Formats: sequence, structure tokens, C-alpha cells
Amino acid sequence: MRRFVAFLLGTCLAGTFVTPAGAEEQVAQRQEQSLRRAVQPDAQMPDGKRMDFDLGFGLFKRNWVAAPSSTQAVDGLGPLYNARSCNVCHPGGARPNALLDKHGDPVPGLTVHLGQAGKAGEAAQPDPVYGEQVQTQALPGQQPEARLSLTMIDGPVIALAGGEKVQLQRPEMQLSQLAFGDLAADSHAGFRLAPAIHGLGLLDRIPDAEILAQAKRAKADGIAGRVNWVPDAISGENRIGRFGWKAVQPTLAQQDAHAFNVDIGMSTTVYPRPAGDCSTSQKDCLAAPNGNSPQFGNVEIAEPMRHLIDSFVSFAMLPPQRQRDIDRIVAGEKLFMAAGCHSCHRPSYDLPATAGLPARRITPYTDLLLHDMGPGLADGVAEGMASGSEWRTQPLWRLGHAVAGDAPAALLHDGRARSILEAVLWHGGEAAAAQQRVVAMSPDERTSLIAFLRSL
Ligand code: HEC
Ligand code: HEC
Repeated sequence: MRRFVAFLLGTCLAGTFVTPAGAEEQVAQRQEQSLRRAVQPDAQMPDGKRMDFDLGFGLFKRNWVAAPSSTQAVDGLGPLYNARSCNVCHPGGARPNALLDKHGDPVPGLTVHLGQAGKAGEAAQPDPVYGEQVQTQALPGQQPEARLSLTMIDGPVIALAGGEKVQLQRPEMQLSQLAFGDLAADSHAGFRLAPAIHGLGLLDRIPDAEILAQAKRAKADGIAGRVNWVPDAISGENRIGRFGWKAVQPTLAQQDAHAFNVDIGMSTTVYPRPAGDCSTSQKDCLAAPNGNSPQFGNVEIAEPMRHLIDSFVSFAMLPPQRQRDIDRIVAGEKLFMAAGCHSCHRPSYDLPATAGLPARRITPYTDLLLHDMGPGLADGVAEGMASGSEWRTQPLWRLGHAVAGDAPAALLHDGRARSILEAVLWHGGEAAAAQQRVVAMSPDERTSLIAFLRSL
């Protein structure tokens, strides 16, 4: 193991096997530069984990290459994929702050998910040919599944108390050059923007009982969150979904392994198929060479590497915001509660101590449950037991980092909201009453509410 780690150190830190950055990596690198100094290990990470964290961050940024290559530790990319590293989509662990790059092309962190509603009471199904996600990149000799472009189109205009009018907008997708013909008639396609990964290790530690209790509690305002029960990829048992915009992954480790498989086309012991999201009708893709090697336990990402990535993702954190104008923030927090935002964005949890980690209180502002958010946010893509209009309450901690300074922001599952206010105004369905209360606030109250949210 020690020799293996020394070997990884060489390949991660020296960067000798990293191929030159293409245009997509450059976008990620620029955004990452401003965040690199920010991402840090959680204050309670055990001392002995620092090296794993740094190595894991190295692997998170590594550009994987096609098999066979001279170095088996870095090959296995594809055959179909969306990006060559985790970091391209989650720059520095953050979410992209725009949907289009400077050439007008969608950023790689904006992926297209596919889903068909299951029969009543059954889990949703992927598209029978294209799978769970549209892979827009392919190795030489393979065909990308489609070309993606998008246009921003106008949504509703919302008139706020005090006279301000807000023109909402959302991205509309165009898929062209579909390599395997049309999507199945009952498949829906929807955008998913890569979220920030900070603090997720703490969400992994929330006891199941807390989430279940929250789902049972009768709530005012017609709010009724429910659990997305999803299969554990190894045991097959149903567990509470926590990660992804529709809570379709039960554990952080499974989420990371799924990202390797579907986004990058690489196998792990959790998802051992080397051809990733290729379906049985994609014959060239299945026949392509792969990087599964006996040296790495017959998968492309050996267990030690997978655990290092998990160490990084589990402990990646951002520093808290500097609190300015405390009076306004306190007033904003009261308005947040009065508007009923906390019915879904549950402020805090007490985590019990677990192996090597002390008990602590966290403030993620989520119940991790699915809520019907109405037709404005719906895209018809069912995932697990979640319908096309249900979404997991997005945690609001570290929201201030996503809207830092005057930089543009890309909030909500498809990055449509350019500001916190726009994100709130898109809330409908179970959140319609809360949205109406924000519409009815005085301009000064709305300023306080937003100051509070920016302080998180
Ligand atoms: C092609 C872009 C892309 C790549 C590459 C990618 N991701 Fe993601 N990631 C996403 C998107 C999009 C989502 C949201 C998926 C969903 O909602 O189903 C996501 C979700 C996640 C989440 C869950 C976040 C949350 O809030 O629940 C984690 C953790 C994560 N990715 C880690 C990784 C790791 C680790 C890698 C590399 C092994 C990686 N990702 C590679 C796009 C990407
Ligand atoms: C019924 C549950 C519910 C209520 C009530 C609710 N939210 Fe949300 N909120 C969600 C869900 C679900 C999402 C993710 C929706 C999506 O991405 O399409 C979300 C997303 C957000 C986001 C975007 C976060 C991001 O990182 O992209 C903000 C900001 C937000 N909510 C603020 C508020 C505020 C402020 C209130 C009160 C006025 C509120 N929410 C009330 C469920 C709720």
C-alpha cells in the first residue's frame, strides 16, 4: 500500500501524465484559480487524513486518458464520456457560475439526464438506447451520442410589491446529430448542472431517523416532503437517497463511483462495467478496448484511488462567510422563518459521533426530501421514485460563495437563476405560498432576506 501511495503521489503531484489542457479544461482552471485558495479540509478532519485529502484532490483534478496507455493508473476514459476529470465539471469543487463558455457552448458541467416514468410505484427507467445521460464526448473511432446547444428563453415576468418587475429566464435544450436515432418516445431529457461538493460528507452523516421523522411531520402550507428510496448499488437494498438534484444516490461513495462511470466512463468495484453508460445496443462502444487491469482489481479505478477521491469529497469545505451588517442578517433570518422557507430548508442537525469523528451541530438548510416544485421547474425526467416535478431541497449553506461579489451566478438544477431572488421566484408547487410571501415583502425586507442568504 505504501508503494502504491508513493506511486500515486508521483502521478498526482508531478502531473507528468496529465495531457495539455483543452478549451474546456481552461474554463475550469480559470474558475478554479479563484477557488483553489478557498477549498480546505473540514476543521474536524482527523490529522492523519491530510495526505489522503491532498492526493484525493489530485485525483479529482486528474485528466484521465484512453486505454491502453503507457500508464495503466491513468487510463480507462470513455469510450463515451462528458469530461475527462471531475474538476472540469466541478471547478475547484465548486459549481460552474455560467451555463455557456466564451464560445457560446454549454459548459461541460451542464449535463443532459434522461428518464422515463416507471409504472405506478416502480422506479424510473433510463432511455433504452442512450442510457441515463447523453455523453457528448467520445474516444477516436467512437461517435459522441449527440451535440448539445442551448438558448435562453424568457420565462414569466414577476411583479414584486414595491414596483420592481423581474423577467425570469431558463435554458432550452437542442440535441442534434443524435448518433443512434431519436430518443424513445416516452423518454424525457433535462439539464442537470454540477453542484458544489463542499460539506457533503456531513450530509452523509445525518441519521436516517432524522430524515424519516421530517418526512412524517405534517406541515402547514401543503408541504409534504418524501424520501426517494433508491437501491444501494452493492447490497441492492433500498436506502434513503441523499445526493444529486433528485436525491438518487444514497451515499457519497456511491455518488462518486457513479460519477466515474457515467460522466467519465470509468469502472470501479461499485459500477464494474468499463463501458460506463453504454447500453446493449451501442455495440462499438461495448467492443472498445478498456482499462480494466488485474493490477487494479479488474477495474479501471483501483480501490485505493476510489477511497482517496472519497476522502477529498467527504472533507472538502469552504470557509464561512465574513458576516457584515449583522442587523440586516438577523432581520433576514426572521423573514426566512416567517416565509416558511425552513419547512423544507431545515436549518440544523445534531450529528452523533462516529468512527474517529466527534458529535457536532451542522447548519445545511435542507431536509434532503423530495418536493413537488410545480410546473415551472418540472422537466418530466423521473429518477428513482422521484417524478418529473420533484426535486430534493437544495442545501443553502455556502450559498454566499455561489453568488460572490458581482460575478454572475447559476442557481437551481439547470443553472437558470442568475441571482438568489430569481431562484426564489421560480419556486412553485409546494413552495408556492413561500414564494408569494417573498413577492409581497417590502423591498427593504427582500434586501434583508437576501443579505441573510448571502451570509450562509
Ligand atoms: C460531466 C460533468 C461531471 C463530471 C465529470 C463529474 N460530475 Fe459530479 N456531478 C455532475 C452533475 C451534473 C451532478 C448532479 C447530478 C444529478 O443531479 O443527478 C453531479 C453531482 C455530484 C455530486 C453530488 C452533489 C450533491 O449536491 O448531491 C458529487 C459528490 C459529485 N458529483 C462528485 C463527482 C466526482 C467525485 C467526480 C469525478 C469522479 C465527478 N463528480 C465528475 C457533473 C459532473
Ligand atoms: C417546498 C419546499 C421548499 C420551500 C418551502 C422553499 N424551498 Fe428553496 N428549494 C427547494 C428545492 C426543492 C430547491 C431545488 C429546486 C431546483 O433546483 O429546481 C430549492 C432551491 C432553492 C434555492 C437555490 C439554491 C441553489 O443552490 O441553487 C434558493 C436560493 C432557495 N431555494 C431559497 C428559498 C427561500 C428563500 C425560501 C423561502 C422563501 C425557499 N427556498 C422555500 C425547496 C423549497
